[in-house]
Amino acid sequence: MKYTFGTSKIAAERLENISNFFNPLAIRIIKKFIDKPINSALDLGCGPGFTTNMLYNALNCGKVYGLDISDNFLRLASKRFKNCIFIKHDVTKTPFPVSSDVIYVRFLLSHLNNIINLVNRWIGELSNNGILFIDEVEDVKTVNVFFRKYLEINRGLVGSQGANLFVGSILAKSNYDASILCNECFTIPVANWEAATWFYPNTITIWEKEKYVCNKLTRTERKEISEKLLQIKELKEQKSEITWYMRRIVLKKID
Ligand SMILES: C[S@@+](CC[C@H](N)C(=O)[O-])C[C@H]1O[C@@H](n2cnc3c(N)ncnc32)[C@H](O)[C@@H]1O
Repeated sequence: MKYTFGTSKIAAERLENISNFFNPLAIRIIKKFIDKPINSALDLGCGPGFTTNMLYNALNCGKVYGLDISDNFLRLASKRFKNCIFIKHDVTKTPFPVSSDVIYVRFLLSHLNNIINLVNRWIGELSNNGILFIDEVEDVKTVNVFFRKYLEINRGLVGSQGANLFVGSILAKSNYDASILCNECFTIPVANWEAATWFYPNTITIWEKEKYVCNKLTRTERKEISEKLLQIKELKEQKSEITWYMRRIVLKKID
């Protein structure tokens, strides 16, 4: 399946901004569940490497691998994070090229299908007692009309490509071939300027090309949303009219 939000330099900068916000939250949970040294760790759908580097910092482990299908993201990741190893691999295909004690996945299952089968196959790739961390979006609620319009379009766009942007509730209700160490939804209020920083780049890149978006919104409507998001971002609007509901699942492979 195609990755909806593109792999350009702008897309990589967008993922860096998102990581600056979400990585500290991920480090905290990884440290909570991993309290002894591990040999190797794997970041699936690593993009430009910000989650892989986060994993390296959280685990203090010498062998940290990032897998992705995008040549451009892998090139950017290898150039920037020399401490990690990046490999081109479609993560819907098992076995993986490397084995690991820990697997981390964020904002990836929302772009794939047949996800529970996939998660169970990923568990099979872990070493005994290995741990799989999943951080995915369950919902994003907002009272801001421009944020709401943006999200409605992106949700529809991802859906039109056969995936589900808000995949969290499916993950929450499913059965896994593993023990469940954690299955919780946590809420994160986000400042308007920060949300606009994550949203705006898509409106000047993929929104201009995607047929789905162009059929749903006129050029004027697209421009209006895009300009409003840019304004919120540039004015550094501190108020928060938007909340992320993040589903976190932590699974331990049973011997
Ligand atoms: C939203 S980005 C998330 C990047 C990173 N995990 C983060 O949270 O910053 C999704 C990434 O998954 C990658 N991806 C999508 N489908 C994939 C597949 N089948 N195999 C490997 N990578 C894939 C995309 O290329 C993209 O880099």
